[in-house]
Formats: sequence, C-alpha cells, structure tokens
Amino acid sequence: MSADPCSFSGTRSATRHLNLVLHVDFPRRVIRARVQLTVEALEDRFSVLTLDTKELQIVSVSVNGQAARFTMGPEHSFKGAALDITLPFELSRGQQAVVEVTYETAPSASALQWLSPEQTAGKKQPYLFSQCQAHHCRSMVPCQDSPSVKHTYYAQVSVPKDLVAVMSAVRDGQEVDPQDNNRIIYRFRQPVPMPSYLIAIVVGALESREIGPRSRVWSEKEFVDKAAFEFSETESMLKTAEDLVGPYVWGQYDILVLPPSFPYGGMENPCLTFATPTLLAGDKSLSNVIAHEISHSWTGNLVTNKTWEHFWLNEGHTVYLERMIGRSLVSEQFRQFKAMGGWKDLQESVNTFGADNQLTNLVPSLQDVDPDDAFSSVPYEKGFALLYHLEELLGGPDVFMGFVRSYIQRFSYGSITTDEWKNHLFTYFKDQVDVLNKVDWNAWMFTPGMPPVKPQYDTTLADACIALSQRWIKAKDQDLSLFKESDAKTLSSHQLIEFLSLLLQEDPLPLSHVKKMQEVYDLNAIMNSEIRFRWLRLCVRSRWEEAVPMAMKMATEQGRMKYTRPLFRELSNYEKYRDEALRVFLAHRAAMHPVTAGLVAKDLKLDASKTTSL
Ligand code: BES
Ligand code: ZN
Repeated sequence: MSADPCSFSGTRSATRHLNLVLHVDFPRRVIRARVQLTVEALEDRFSVLTLDTKELQIVSVSVNGQAARFTMGPEHSFKGAALDITLPFELSRGQQAVVEVTYETAPSASALQWLSPEQTAGKKQPYLFSQCQAHHCRSMVPCQDSPSVKHTYYAQVSVPKDLVAVMSAVRDGQEVDPQDNNRIIYRFRQPVPMPSYLIAIVVGALESREIGPRSRVWSEKEFVDKAAFEFSETESMLKTAEDLVGPYVWGQYDILVLPPSFPYGGMENPCLTFATPTLLAGDKSLSNVIAHEISHSWTGNLVTNKTWEHFWLNEGHTVYLERMIGRSLVSEQFRQFKAMGGWKDLQESVNTFGADNQLTNLVPSLQDVDPDDAFSSVPYEKGFALLYHLEELLGGPDVFMGFVRSYIQRFSYGSITTDEWKNHLFTYFKDQVDVLNKVDWNAWMFTPGMPPVKPQYDTTLADACIALSQRWIKAKDQDLSLFKESDAKTLSSHQLIEFLSLLLQEDPLPLSHVKKMQEVYDLNAIMNSEIRFRWLRLCVRSRWEEAVPMAMKMATEQGRMKYTRPLFRELSNYEKYRDEALRVFLAHRAAMHPVTAGLVAKDLKLDASKTTSL
C-alpha cells in the first residue's frame, strides 16, 4: 500500500469509528474535547498507533481504559505533529482497541474560524465554523487524517444555550448540559463511513427552514429566506442525481449558508453542504455550486481519493456530474457552454502556475507540498476535460454515464487511486480497449500544462458572448459610440460571465473602453458575485482608479478564496496601489480565515517578518 504523503498516520491501522465529546469555549476560542477512536490493527504485533495532530494540547491518552504512554513529534509546517501512542498490549491483525485522547484545540487552529459578534450578520452572538478539507481536521481532532481511512462518527457538542450546533451528520437530539444549565448539548450520528476531512461543525445563532422532503437551509436568521429561495431547486437536483447515479445514502441533505469569510464556494460536508453567501445572487443563477456539492455525495464522499494526489478523482468526476445535472435540468447546449467556461478556468490556472509546473499535472506529486498551495482549477477542469474526451471516444454521454455508475458501485465506501480508476475503465470498456490504448495517458496525467486534446464544444450559447467580446477587443476609440445598453440586455447572467471571462483572457482593454462599458452596461450595479469579480478584475487591469476601492471592498467584505486571492493579486500588480493593497490586507488579516490569510500572504509574497513594516 502506498502511503499518504500528507499524513503521519501510516497504513498499519485503520480507524473504524470516532466518538467525540466537544465543549466549545468562545471566550478562550478553543474546543475542549475528548475523542474515542475505535482502531483496528491491519497487521500483527501492532503496538504503536500514530495519529495526526496540529497545534493540539494533549492532556491524556488511554487505551481500552488503561493509561497509555504517548510522545509528540516535531511540528511540521503544514502536516502538524505525529502523536505516537504506545498501546499497553499488542494487537494482532483484525483486532480492535478503543483509544481515548483528551485534548484542547489552539485558538489558531487552521480548521477553525472564530468570529466575534461584530463579524456576524446578527452582531449579537459569536460564531464558529470548521473547514477540514484537505488536511486541517488534525487541528480539531487527533485522528488518522488521511482520506484513505474511513469511519463512522458520533458527537455531542456543548454550546452556550443561545447558540445552535450543527455537524456533517444526522441530528440526534439535544438536552440541557447536566454540568452547566446555561449550555445545551447537541448530539449527532454519522452512520456512513467517511474520511476525516468530512467532519464539520458550525456553532452560531442559527435558524433553519424546510426547502424539501429531506432538506433544510440553515443560516443566521437574516439569510434564511433568501437562501430558501436561492436553493429551491435542491430536491429536483437530488432526484436528477439519483436518476443518474443511484440512491442518495446520507439521509438528510441540508445546506448551511456561512458568514462571508467562508473560504470556498461550497463544501460537500455529508448531510450538510456548506455554502458561501456569495451564492445568494437572487436569481438562482449560481445554483450549479449546489449541483456540484450534491454530486460529491457519490463522487468524493462515497468514492474517495486515496490521497490528495488523486484529488482529480473527487473533483473531476464531480464537475462531470454537476454538468450532467445541468444537462438534465437545462440542456445539452448549457452543458457544452459550461464546459467551455471550464476550459478557460483551466487555461488561467495553467498560466498562473506556469505551463511547466508539475502542480498542473492531473496527478501531481505532493511530496512536501501543502495541499492548500496545490489547489487550483486543474483537478476540476483537466479532470473534466479527460472525462469528456473519453465520453466522446467511447460513445457519448449515455454510454459514459454507464461507466460512471459502475465506477460508483464498484468503489463506494472505499478510497482509491488513479490506477484503480483506470483499471476499472479498461475492464468496463473491455470491447474498446483499442480506443483506450490510443489515449495519451502520460500526457493527460503526468505532464504539466494544457491537455493533449482540446475538446470542440458546441458554441450556440457562447456565440453571442464571443461576438460581443470581439467587438470590444477590436474597437478603436472612435468606434465606442456604437456600443449600446441593448448589446448586453439579451445576455443571461451566465453569458455575461462568459463575456467577461473572454475579455480577461486578452490583453487589458484601454481605459477608455472599460469606462464606456460602465457607461453603457452599468456593470458596477450588478451584485452577482461571479460577474462583479470578473468586472472589477478587468477594471483594475485597465488601471481604472475608480474601481480600486470597489475591488478592495470585494476582496475584504467576503473571503471566498476564488475571489479574494485574484483580487488582491490584481490590486498588488497595479504599481500605484500595491502598498495600499498590502496595507488593506494587513489591516484585515487578523479577522480573516486562517487559511485565506496564509495564502493571500504568500500570493503577495509577504513573509511573517515583513508584516509590520508598512
Ligand atoms: N470540496 C471542494 C472545496 C474544497 C476543495 C475545499 C479542496 C478544500 C480543499 C468543493 O466541492 C468545491 O469544489 N467547491 C467549488 C465549487 C465549484 C467547483 C462549483 C468552490 O468552492 O468554488
Ligand atoms: Zn468539489
């Protein structure tokens, strides 16, 4: 068995179940906790269990109730520290023991963001949320923090009585904390085995509303109604997904809208997808993110990448399913249109990393690489492009969905590598092995840069975007009067996004052009986050000073990394405003999500020592 380069916990044991008892302490910004891990030996004479930890204070360890000796290894920059536990006895292969660890998290835990009341919509109560993917669970729970290990979990969480706790599991009741009647204990059970990165918790002044037979939306009360409207297609997406790939096994599918600093668009926590409030566009136009997170209920959460090097198995298949849901609910043309947009996102990631950077491989080596640093559109869009290419070669969407279904059936509840995926592909298409052998596998998987084949997508929905962007690119100053409000009136918000993406692929437009574009289309007034993000980037690139404060505002008012990182990068490339961008970042840093703050600092080439000099 190949080891996970991002985990110390090895392959000699496997955790089968976690029992968590958490006490959330807002004044100290720590979780005091006890976890019992049911661990199975995978080889004979097993006597030392290694767990991943990060910045945890370990209080005590016992095994089957007997005190056990433990030592902590040195703290690695992103992997954290190994916790070696010597069992008081040896286990033979297949035997289990219950290892109990009492510990406390650090206020700086990378999985957690602690928000003050002022940082919430309600302004009255504090808020806590977790984001464990990829390798941050270890800063919240000492565990085998590798996606190769799957376990069920049970949790009880004590929180102040005005707050509500939710987790990535089925709710299992609540009671007044017998130790402190100012607190409530919430209980959760997750009976489906899952990797540690899917453990998730939120504590805040949460309310919820039903949006379907198995779905509720959760958020601070200020956003509940807006969220219920925005995500009203949830049940029809779930049904569509079930028609495509089989039964939804997780019971509940709820969506929780987080505060604006949530670093991702969505996160597929089982039973409870996490979503950024930037999806609340008011017109359901960003609901593909929900289709995406729903799809992870199969690809990712049932069939899981064995290590983060095989992350494309999670995300590539999920983007493929997300777009199949779009195909069912909208049209094949819409799928083709979104696929074309994805190719551009891939091109941008390749440009940012550099076409010879091995992190643009579909299957990169992550030896000594922080998964957060490796994150990009590559696993999503190179993965999608490969699957789409195979679809075309092997007989079209219906034929290829047969493979995807079979892949999910074959590997559900397991964790797999790219080789296992490929072997299954060759087995499933055993009558078309000659076709499969013509694929340049080495180029697709282990070569940096753009893929060896560029798919030809249908351009019906893109034609209007291409035509309008070409008019702007080619226009001389004296032609600007020909642009009219009506040019863009017939474009959907999806098409407006595509139009702006096309312009962002080109050299910056002259300042006169973006000013005119604002005059005729009034893009400043559009609050759809995908449109606004691209528009402000375009303006900053064209050195329009009036856009700078708006770009700074968007970069800091919300913290979705997809927006915040490129906006800060763009601003800092504008020589005249570089220092101001740095100052704005440093002023916000302490209130930012720890992972976002760390990555923006790296993007801006700020090291820890420089942070006070401005
Ligand atoms: N699982 C990812 C988010 C993630 C990836 C968090 C890696 C931490 C590490 C989630 O499913 C995702 O891909 N979200 C996208 C949605 C988009 C592709 C539709 C996002 O956040 O924008
Ligand atoms: Zn995803």
